[in-house]
Amino acid sequence: MLQFQEILALQNFLWQKRKADKKIGFVPTMGALHEGHLSLIRLSKQENDVTVCSVFVNPTQFNNAEDLAKYPRTIEKDAQMLESVGCDVLFIPEVATMYPEKTTLQFHFGHLESVMEGKFRKGHFNGVALVVSKLFHIVQPHRAYFGQKDLQQFAIIRILVQDLMFPLELIRCPIVRQANGLAMSSRNQRLNLQEQETASHLYKALLRAKAMLESYSVKQIQKAVKEYLLNIKGITLEYFEIADANTLQIIEDLNSFQGDLALCIAAYVSGVRLIDNLIVENFVKK
Ligand code: PAJ
Repeated sequence: MLQFQEILALQNFLWQKRKADKKIGFVPTMGALHEGHLSLIRLSKQENDVTVCSVFVNPTQFNNAEDLAKYPRTIEKDAQMLESVGCDVLFIPEVATMYPEKTTLQFHFGHLESVMEGKFRKGHFNGVALVVSKLFHIVQPHRAYFGQKDLQQFAIIRILVQDLMFPLELIRCPIVRQANGLAMSSRNQRLNLQEQETASHLYKALLRAKAMLESYSVKQIQKAVKEYLLNIKGITLEYFEIADANTLQIIEDLNSFQGDLALCIAAYVSGVRLIDNLIVENFVKK
């Protein structure tokens, strides 16, 4: 696997590949890699000639300095894991390379900024959109791979690609979970085994909510999820919402909705903020 820290060196390499008509797949990450990230790399390997992974802990998407400082950094292990799945290129830029000047550019994503992650992590999506735009310009991939784990992020990036006409195909990849149901996340590294077991109740709450969709209202399902999690020591629920899986518009009345539903949850477990979601395709209330 080749490693690049500098933009120009990476671009020179990729330019040769593009000229030889090779297809480039791109997986942006913030490192502390796990099986979820590797599933994206594997898919990119299947669909492209060259797979590029970036590892960059992007400071502009953290609205909390402590969260940024505590974000796990395991670059040597990351490089080994990427090597083990046959990733071709690792791009690990310095902060000064990605942000040579202080930027004032602002994105606005309408309602997506006032619900769920947009509401609770002010400025987060602006930082994501900024860094993903920069990375797309640098790598110029044919295909880019993102996880359903960050469903609202995916919706934001879809708007970015559409509105700024990035000539690439976006691919949404399924959530990889631990055996106990807990969605894999770099933040899980900050939890011990017992806390991870506690955290797995987020997924269990989503499954319960899914089972209630046919016969209960949104309000009743929200109440049930809240009560279920109140009984589990160590979890503080931030939100549970039912949304359109593609637009992330909040759904208040299930009777008037038809299409792909997303059950979305965010909570703190031992001070670590976790998110998860479950998609129910082609929902229609009978
Ligand atoms: P990061 O949290 O490292 O995630 C990188 C990619 O891996 C994202 O597309 C995320 O949705 C996906 N991913 C994370 N956990 C997953 C899981 N359990 N199953 C499947 N895919 C999973 O998301 C970011 O980094 C950043 O915001 C980034 C897009 C790199 C911009 O800085």
